[in-house]
Amino acid sequence: MKPIRKAVFPVAGLGTRFLPATKAMPKEMLTVVDRPVIQHVVDEAREAGIEHFIFVTGRNKAVIEDHFDKQVELEATLERRGKDAELAELEDSLPGPGQTSFTRQQAPLGLGHAVWCARELVGNEPFALLLPDMVMQDEPGCLKQMLDTYAGLDEPANVIAVEQVPEDQTFRYGIVGVGEEVGRAFRITGMVEKPAPGTAPSNLIISGRYILQPEIFSLLAEHQTGAGGEIQLTDAMLRLAENQSFYGYHFRGKSFDCGNKIGFLSANVSFALARPDIAPEFRVALKELLEAE
Ligand code: G1P
Repeated sequence: MKPIRKAVFPVAGLGTRFLPATKAMPKEMLTVVDRPVIQHVVDEAREAGIEHFIFVTGRNKAVIEDHFDKQVELEATLERRGKDAELAELEDSLPGPGQTSFTRQQAPLGLGHAVWCARELVGNEPFALLLPDMVMQDEPGCLKQMLDTYAGLDEPANVIAVEQVPEDQTFRYGIVGVGEEVGRAFRITGMVEKPAPGTAPSNLIISGRYILQPEIFSLLAEHQTGAGGEIQLTDAMLRLAENQSFYGYHFRGKSFDCGNKIGFLSANVSFALARPDIAPEFRVALKELLEAE
């Protein structure tokens, strides 16, 4: 099995649900506690052993590229002031030189189109895809768990993380059909993007983490449109499934859809409660707020 060395992060979305916060700032730079959403997702990929980070960006997203670069003046100032912990934090958060690539989607034609824009940078090897809207919280992280599952398969296949949602939420997501169990995964028997209420094959959603074989790119190149008039990744995966196996990995940690306000706020609370340096004080503040309701 070829190792998974590269990860793709589609970060071209407009973030209209967070206006006016996202008027001049990319939604991926909103912070969960003190790390931008995109940093949490890159951290998950680094923990899983990813060596190259490919960002598919758009207009007004240049600050993401700056975020994943050294800030020489800032670092010099921190050093002068003896702020060693902050300095170490900055260094630990940064992929090394030459480990990031940025390309632009140019037009908002859908997730499938964004992934296709990474084709030259990925090349002919399997890769991970992480949608930054979904922030996962577990140890080890979701992608590491998926890669362990992938390594145990006896064929080069595709693996998608799935999670359970209430029946009435399925219309918001891609949904998979569930087949036989294979080790810690199950065979995916079908996929549908944003099914009409009451028509979903299960209540397991495609939760924004994928391991894909490079053959997906030639299918995405056809630019067929699907749900919402967009080029949908799910549709291309469904066609790839005619020739290659797709497995679902049921992720059981916490996950937060930071593409909407409730998910984003919940992520902040949950990550703050998991931080030993601020949790004790934050727990008291949160309790007081809830009791004063
Ligand atoms: C995308 C995918 C969908 C998946 C979702 C997870 O949809 O197309 O299959 O369930 O991400 O967040 P979007 O959120 O871009 O509408």
